[in-house]
Amino acid sequence: MPPEILDAVARIEAQTFVRAVDWFAEIGSTNDYALSIANDPDIVTPRLIWADRQYAGRGRSGHAWWSAAGALTCSLLVDRQTWSLSPVRWPEVALVTGLAIAEAIAEFVPKQPVQVKWPNDVYLAGRKVCGILMESASADLQHSVIGIGINVGNSFAAAPQELQATATAMCDHAAVPPRPVEVLLRVLECWQTWMVRVFTQRVHLPSAWESRCLLTHRQVRITAGSASIEGVCHGIDTDGALLIETATGTKRCVTGTVRLLSAL
Ligand code: BTN
Repeated sequence: MPPEILDAVARIEAQTFVRAVDWFAEIGSTNDYALSIANDPDIVTPRLIWADRQYAGRGRSGHAWWSAAGALTCSLLVDRQTWSLSPVRWPEVALVTGLAIAEAIAEFVPKQPVQVKWPNDVYLAGRKVCGILMESASADLQHSVIGIGINVGNSFAAAPQELQATATAMCDHAAVPPRPVEVLLRVLECWQTWMVRVFTQRVHLPSAWESRCLLTHRQVRITAGSASIEGVCHGIDTDGALLIETATGTKRCVTGTVRLLSAL
């Protein structure tokens, strides 16, 4: 392990809720690795699986997740007992993760808007900067894997025009390009803070979400399989479902891909 990583791992284990770290110079997918060890009874959690490079990164809906050098790619392997959570509350964890990452990113790029796009994306200056892939490791939802991909130092300045229009990296907006390890530490600290806020202190998730929501008051289309709903977004419900005002009343969406129909 390079000295810089050794130092980072020591800081993560000393300063955050993470009890063990697996670091890889290269791996297929940190989520795949986390899922492969999740049911080992000897495995210590909460655990961070962190890779410098992924060659088979996965995104939502079966898409590939491509990330160049300088990106942050990692997965958290967590046991819901650590936070005394019932399985029905896991969808909220995905939203809490987005809020926590948005807060961490905003600290490094204070002059730009950082927003969350339901259910699992973080946007910086109107373009996607982070994707989150949450997966269950077992049918009883005992362990979950939260995969996080953040464009930190992998600049999009020289990327094709069509990619630049939809995605961005933190280094393209910061006077001093942030180091992935510093971003990772803040992400972990903010995640812990938000988990406590929402699940212990009972902070109202819809209100917290509202302050960063990219979609509120915008015309959107949500597609889930062959079904789609179109209307104006009114934030989220207490269980994390997206609320859409349609011609036939308010609809709740618990899954799906959102497309913005009105310009940012
Ligand atoms: C998405 O927006 O589609 C979610 C992307 C999630 C990517 C991360 S990178 C680390 C972890 N390992 C993976 O294979 N995927 C997630």
